[in-house]
Amino acid sequence: MAADTNESASQYKIIVIPVDDDGCRFYLEQYRPFRLASLQQDPQAFGSTYEREIAFDEETWLGRIKNPLAKTFVAVRTHSNQIVASTSLIGPLPNATVSSNPYQVITAAPGEGDTKDTNSNSDSDDSANKAPVYFQMSAVYTLPTARGCGLAKALIKAATGEACDRAHSQRRPLALSVVVYPDNAAAISVYERCGFARNPEEEPELVVNEVKKTSEWTVNMYYSGEP
Ligand SMILES: CC(C)(COP(=O)(O)OP(=O)(O)OC[C@H]1O[C@@H](n2cnc3c(N)ncnc32)[C@H](O)[C@@H]1OP(=O)(O)O)[C@@H](O)C(=O)NCCC(=O)NCCS
Repeated sequence: MAADTNESASQYKIIVIPVDDDGCRFYLEQYRPFRLASLQQDPQAFGSTYEREIAFDEETWLGRIKNPLAKTFVAVRTHSNQIVASTSLIGPLPNATVSSNPYQVITAAPGEGDTKDTNSNSDSDDSANKAPVYFQMSAVYTLPTARGCGLAKALIKAATGEACDRAHSQRRPLALSVVVYPDNAAAISVYERCGFARNPEEEPELVVNEVKKTSEWTVNMYYSGEP
């Protein structure tokens, strides 16, 4: 945790890396080494590997930042612009690529009230009857020296807020999920504190990881609104 580093959340700001020339340069010069370091530091937390991504050429990296379905949220040190934490938000996804989500959230714009689940009565909002907008969150990572400052929580909040806004603009419910390894207690705890929950009806799934050439147990966690 960051207690002995004397760091606090106020020393960081959360940004979405823009997809312009400056953003692409920042992505290559700052995000790429950050991502590679995260794969080296905590290989067990990710589906991908350092060996795979160190071999990517610039075009492949730029393809990630330019993917119109992906947004990269980062926490940067205010004085140096160094990336210390990140997450990605992917979507809206085609319905066919997403497993069923029991916790669809009816969204409200700022000032219209809090998010609420579809079980609550809302005569004035017909969005509950519409097809949800599907998003996935991935690649949540905080550098070891910056852990315990609330950065993962701040990033996840920014990303869920963005997904809520997108769903709200279409007057549709939000279905947002994340895939976690069941033995990653820290990540599960963070997601729970950010309003995600497992579906008690859903068992862990054994998934073949083509990159690591192995099979891994995974669980889905679903966003059910701010805790
Ligand atoms: C999991 C991880 C992202 C947490 O990052 P972080 O910036 O330290 O998390 P935060 O400081 O925002 O903590 C948010 C909440 O989760 C809790 N939490 C954080 N780490 C925890 C841990 N190891 N065990 C239990 N709870 C933990 C915090 O107590 C906090 O709860 P609170 O708001 O009630 O105080 C970080 O440990 C990490 O990068 N791990 C390796 C990569 C990884 O596992 N990524 C997830 C892939 S799905």
